[in-house]
Amino acid sequence: MTMPALHAENLVKRYGALVATDHVSLTVLPGEIHALIGPNGAGKSTLIHLLSGTAPADGGTLSIAGRDITHASLHHRVAAGLSRSYQVTNIFQQSTVFENLLLAVQAHAGSSFCFWRAGRDDSVLTQAARQLAMDCTIEPALWALPAGTLSHGEQRKVEFALALAGHPKVLLLDEPMAGMGPDETLRMTALIASMRGRVAMLLVEHDMDAVFRLADRISVLVYGRMIATGTPDEIRASAAVREAYLGDEWIDEVPDA
Ligand SMILES: Nc1ncnc2c1ncn2[C@@H]1O[C@H](COP(=O)(O)OP(=O)(O)OP(=O)(O)O)[C@@H](O)[C@H]1O
Ligand SMILES: [Mg+2]
Repeated sequence: MTMPALHAENLVKRYGALVATDHVSLTVLPGEIHALIGPNGAGKSTLIHLLSGTAPADGGTLSIAGRDITHASLHHRVAAGLSRSYQVTNIFQQSTVFENLLLAVQAHAGSSFCFWRAGRDDSVLTQAARQLAMDCTIEPALWALPAGTLSHGEQRKVEFALALAGHPKVLLLDEPMAGMGPDETLRMTALIASMRGRVAMLLVEHDMDAVFRLADRISVLVYGRMIATGTPDEIRASAAVREAYLGDEWIDEVPDA
């Protein structure tokens, strides 16, 4: 069997008496787009925190590409291949778009590269930043602008690019379409789709049109418990999912994959 890109087993997170994550297991395969859906307060963001290491788990295990990172620091998780797309606050607003990308590429290239850069030409890094911008469909006309002057949708793209700079194995995306208009949502959907096969993505998203268009597989979390994992067709057909979350009327409106 293929080695999973991410494998979580029996993750538990308690907030006092509340079990926000109740023995959750999840497998994300290499290169797949795996959506995590569920009602408000289901524990989706909590699970993202446990995976990225921004909140400690009370139990369970986690591995990236077969490497156990259950107790690893944020830094070691990133080194193991885990990346998380933060909100736009992760962007240096005053710096240009290109400087932001260059910094991210440089940071992942390691200290040896920084040393090189001090006295030598940095064309390799510049080229990598340029490639990243093009891969993420950031228009060249925007590269020299201060990142803070870009539209919300364009800033989310830059932020997505920053998360990809280190060539992660797994990218965690918590509501990448939040606050976007219809056109921006479509562009972000296309960008995420273009990365299919290159990086495994765990996508938390409330926009069900986007989820059912994008996802190779979907996991459904309700009250801290994972109630189903399957292909979009399987999730659409699941009686348990209809009952606990999506409902009959709604599911008939979900676009075919
Ligand atoms: N830091 C915290 N302290 C106490 N309770 C918390 C904390 N973070 C989350 N919770 C609770 O844990 C549960 C899960 O919250 P979480 O934010 O993970 O849900 P979610 O699925 O991301 O919801 P949404 O779809 O609204 O973003 C909720 O009941 C929430 O109130
Ligand atoms: Mg959330």
